[in-house]
Amino acid sequence: MNELYQVPAMAGFIRMCDDGWQQGWHERNGGNLTYRMTEEDVAACRPYFDAQPRPWVKMGVQAKNLAGEYFITTGSGKYFRNVILDPAANIGIVEINDEGDSWRIVWGLENGAKPTSEFPSHFMNHSVRKEATNGANRVIYHCHATNVIALTYVLPLNDRDFTRPLWQSATECPVVFPEGVGVCPWMVPGGAAIAMATSEKMKTYQAAVWAQHGLFVSGPDYDTAFGLAHTIEKSAEIYVKVLSTGRPILQTITDDALRAIAHDFGVQLNEAFLD
Ligand code: 13P
Ligand code: ZN
Repeated sequence: MNELYQVPAMAGFIRMCDDGWQQGWHERNGGNLTYRMTEEDVAACRPYFDAQPRPWVKMGVQAKNLAGEYFITTGSGKYFRNVILDPAANIGIVEINDEGDSWRIVWGLENGAKPTSEFPSHFMNHSVRKEATNGANRVIYHCHATNVIALTYVLPLNDRDFTRPLWQSATECPVVFPEGVGVCPWMVPGGAAIAMATSEKMKTYQAAVWAQHGLFVSGPDYDTAFGLAHTIEKSAEIYVKVLSTGRPILQTITDDALRAIAHDFGVQLNEAFLD
């Protein structure tokens, strides 16, 4: 089993869970992570798969472009802080059926554990990000990023009004998420409705904010996805600190300065969010 944990896809997954825990974004069982495996990943992990896969379970959502894919996923109710101590009990590998509407566990999630309750949201986000990035996207990550959540109490819950202070609070933000962030209103977690609302946002954005709940990000690999969450949360933290001073904001990054950053770094800013 130790060798399974050294497969880069597995090692990176386990490390990212621990990184998120250490950031303080995963109280109790908060947050979840999924990774869409490559054929090479599956081949490297297959020798460790169970002799008998577990039964198929319908998801309540469907995506034909994910038929036959394999995902590494955190378990529902499992704690990120425990993943590094006992991966097989806290994470697992699931296979998707030919209809793209059901999963079955082929490894891990021991003792009756199930994939994250947010698997439908992850799954639909994987579907739209796979499409939007010509297959490059592989990681979907949900964390309870403290300062992002705090801002959902004081900023208007629309994409433009949420993105602008994030761009203005750290100079490199417009380079990291030039299209901005999407914002979903408060919704009941874990079902098909929040999955559909989030995946609508992810057609345009790499990241979506869930009001009074957390952050959803995507990326081609663990570093990029984690880095995106880290960048958004850091910017939110700066803005929360600015607001907390109670002092009037005397200066910020102007829209022309944002345009200048985008020009020099060769990214296309979402013009609809600029004055
Ligand atoms: P799970 O434990 O089912 O992953 O749920 C945690 C969570 O953050 C729900 O949004
Ligand atoms: Zn959550």
